[in-house]
Amino acid sequence: MSDLQNEIKRRRTFAIISHPDAGKTTLTEKFLLYGKAINSAGSVKGKKSDKHAVSDWMEIEKQRGISVTSSVMQFEYEGYCINILDTPGHQDFSEDTYRTLMAADSAVMVIDASKGVENQTRKLFKVCVMRHIPIFTFINKMDREARNPFDLLEQIEKELGIKTCPVNWPIGCGRDFKGVYDRYKRHILSFKANNGQHEVEATEVDLSDPSLDSLITEEYRKVLFDDVELLDGASDELDMDEVSAGRLTPVFFGSALTNFGVEPFLENFLKMTSSPLPRNSSEGIIDPFDDSFSAFVFKIQANMNKAHRDRITFMRICSGKFTRDMEVYHVQGDKKLRLSQPQQMMAQEREVIDEAYAGDIIGVFDPGIFSIGDTITVPGKKFRFEGIPTFAPEHFARVRHKDTMKRKQFVKGVEQIAQEGAIQIFHEPDTGMEEVIVGVVGVLQFEVFEHRMITEYNVEIIREGLSYSYIRWIENDDIDIKKLNLSSDTKVVADFKGNYLLLFTSEWNIKWALDKNEGLKLSEFNRE
Ligand code: G4P
Repeated sequence: MSDLQNEIKRRRTFAIISHPDAGKTTLTEKFLLYGKAINSAGSVKGKKSDKHAVSDWMEIEKQRGISVTSSVMQFEYEGYCINILDTPGHQDFSEDTYRTLMAADSAVMVIDASKGVENQTRKLFKVCVMRHIPIFTFINKMDREARNPFDLLEQIEKELGIKTCPVNWPIGCGRDFKGVYDRYKRHILSFKANNGQHEVEATEVDLSDPSLDSLITEEYRKVLFDDVELLDGASDELDMDEVSAGRLTPVFFGSALTNFGVEPFLENFLKMTSSPLPRNSSEGIIDPFDDSFSAFVFKIQANMNKAHRDRITFMRICSGKFTRDMEVYHVQGDKKLRLSQPQQMMAQEREVIDEAYAGDIIGVFDPGIFSIGDTITVPGKKFRFEGIPTFAPEHFARVRHKDTMKRKQFVKGVEQIAQEGAIQIFHEPDTGMEEVIVGVVGVLQFEVFEHRMITEYNVEIIREGLSYSYIRWIENDDIDIKKLNLSSDTKVVADFKGNYLLLFTSEWNIKWALDKNEGLKLSEFNRE
């Protein structure tokens, strides 16, 4: 096998999703410790206690800052080269999560064993399902009081609509947490709490080993034997085709904080997941092992340094190898260029890199030329990767600049923030850029937008909330919008690619429009 093939084969690129506080940071940190990418726990993120003292708003500012360094982390473990993608914690930013998942080949879902499936898990999970990627579940905090494991599995199956297959099984929980039974190796990994020390000892014992008596009481042994019998008879088999299709999730129990069950999880996970997956493009499937470089943009991060208005654009390499000074081709911009200061995040550090392979994420300085979903190839190749669908915004406002002298900055700010995918912009068919309609998925995004217009572009804006909650793209190419029969509270707007859309105040109005306009086709997604 060539070096290129070897390098790509050993890569694993995944995202971690969880409801806040389930233990995503702690688990990530343990992974990094195993990979020796960091030396001590607590270095990934500051203490949580700070977090509750600050407002939601500050938190976003912080996240914007932090995500520049922590949005992707690369480290080596047992011959694998691992890329972990971080997903934003705030629910108003689930669109960003979706984009991040576009760059991942699988996802790890962390669930708090005492809380089970929580709100944000549900939302993020839906986003995962849209991508049909394999999902691995880590049920965390078994060292605390936990729900019955059968109930947890049932909840995952019922609420998330995915089959489960426990790879290991907990013995007790909280103070009585004794360890986990590995159903495939058929041995017990026993847990010895050591007075709050964060690293616990784990011993492997076979089920038939007499020393088992000294580790778990008769009562727990009986429960375990019964549980195992029940699982072997009734639970779904570990069918890897079903896992790959995102229809079955392998489940692991453990405790990230005490470092129990984390390494077996990581090892199993790395074996069960695949190297970078092929991607669809306008010219068919692109094989990651193909020699020539290709990538797509999935995230744009405005630089925190206001003095330099440049941004960092993150791209996922989909095929071949990237080298630092190579000439690439930006398909949407129809331009050859060299990517400036390509960098990767190694835990905390940002490093300028000389080369990267399919599966890797690189960040490049961007003077404002890239948009989310753009394809980068090598000169001569003009295919486009499938676009990243935009979420239908649910909140709308009419926005204009307060000071007429600031028109230029206003247009620049609105366009750039929209390019980053933080807002979506529309206009009424007969108006220009003087006044735009801004659509967002979560209301907090309005505040971020307003704040950034002032701090980064020095423009004060006037924002007038609109009562629309639904948006539909008109799919018919040859429609005369003036002839549409619409209710008085339905509005026609256009996006900046020239597509027409309708804004509605209720679902009832959508139905009305469809009933009164024969042949009208509406879509919830933006057509690329
Ligand atoms: P998040 O990124 O998903 O939001 O969660 P994070 O890892 O920050 O963990 C949230 C809280 O849960 C932290 O406590 C963390 O120490 C704790 N935790 C994580 N994993 C486990 C576990 O396996 N067992 C137990 N008992 N606790 C766990 P905190 O008090 O909010 O923060 P800190 O002061 O410890 O940093």
